[in-house]
Amino acid sequence: MQPIPEIEEIVGKFRAGEAEVARRFFEDKRPLSQHLDWLRFQVAREARNLEEIASHQRCELVEQVDRSVSRETLVDQLTEDYQEVRHYGMLAYIYEGISGERVQWRELRETAQQASWYELSRREHRRWAEIKAGGSELELAAALFTRGGGGSLFYGMIPLRGGDYEEALSRASKTILRDEIEHGASEGREDLYRLVRGKDDVETASRIIAEMGAIRLEMRNEQYGKPMPEERLQEIREGGIAPVTMEEMLSACPRDGEDWFEWYHGKRKPLSATSIR
Ligand SMILES: [Fe+2]
Ligand SMILES: [Fe+2]
Repeated sequence: MQPIPEIEEIVGKFRAGEAEVARRFFEDKRPLSQHLDWLRFQVAREARNLEEIASHQRCELVEQVDRSVSRETLVDQLTEDYQEVRHYGMLAYIYEGISGERVQWRELRETAQQASWYELSRREHRRWAEIKAGGSELELAAALFTRGGGGSLFYGMIPLRGGDYEEALSRASKTILRDEIEHGASEGREDLYRLVRGKDDVETASRIIAEMGAIRLEMRNEQYGKPMPEERLQEIREGGIAPVTMEEMLSACPRDGEDWFEWYHGKRKPLSATSIR
């Protein structure tokens, strides 16, 4: 599969934009409440697979294997579930580690579905649903190609250092980025590239990717309490940013076999932190 430069470039630029939001957030010390805000939002997103499992969607999938669902579809789904549950687990522990509050995924998901702080995440999901219902196969594949942003937010947090909070995030970010590349960007790319047949298709895909990228960039900026001024967001939407390539992301997150949970439980609570005021 030959990468299509125009498409790779747009995706890479929005990736860099999301990473910049996280990076800017951690450039200044901020009150604990702002740290809890971004984490609560992220934990709610990562808990989606838990909700799907609890509502028996996986049981239904298993019932269909060897009939309308292939075995590898099930393996892919369970891999994603395993990885997303791990993301939820790490970030929920980090939230508890800096706040002393307990996280309950079910309550958090229910709250998020109504809460104003979750509106932009709902907007992203609504747009996917619209394209799924009314768009072409190509448009849907382009919209889903950006799903999870390929973990680019986490790419921005890998360099964090300071206290145990920053180190916990950096270590978790490596795992999450690697997982997201595995179950998100790489698969989405193949699905999209299969459907791109000519110049018009490249244009259509680029337009949808830019639209979803802009929604996500705004969502990330809100999630972190707007560390980026509107002018910078505009600049990024217009292409004024160096793209982050897939190779750069991959080399930032080698699988090291570390047991994050064991590491976390060995740290004193509350976690020490240098970025919390
Ligand atoms: Fe995730
Ligand atoms: Fe994911």
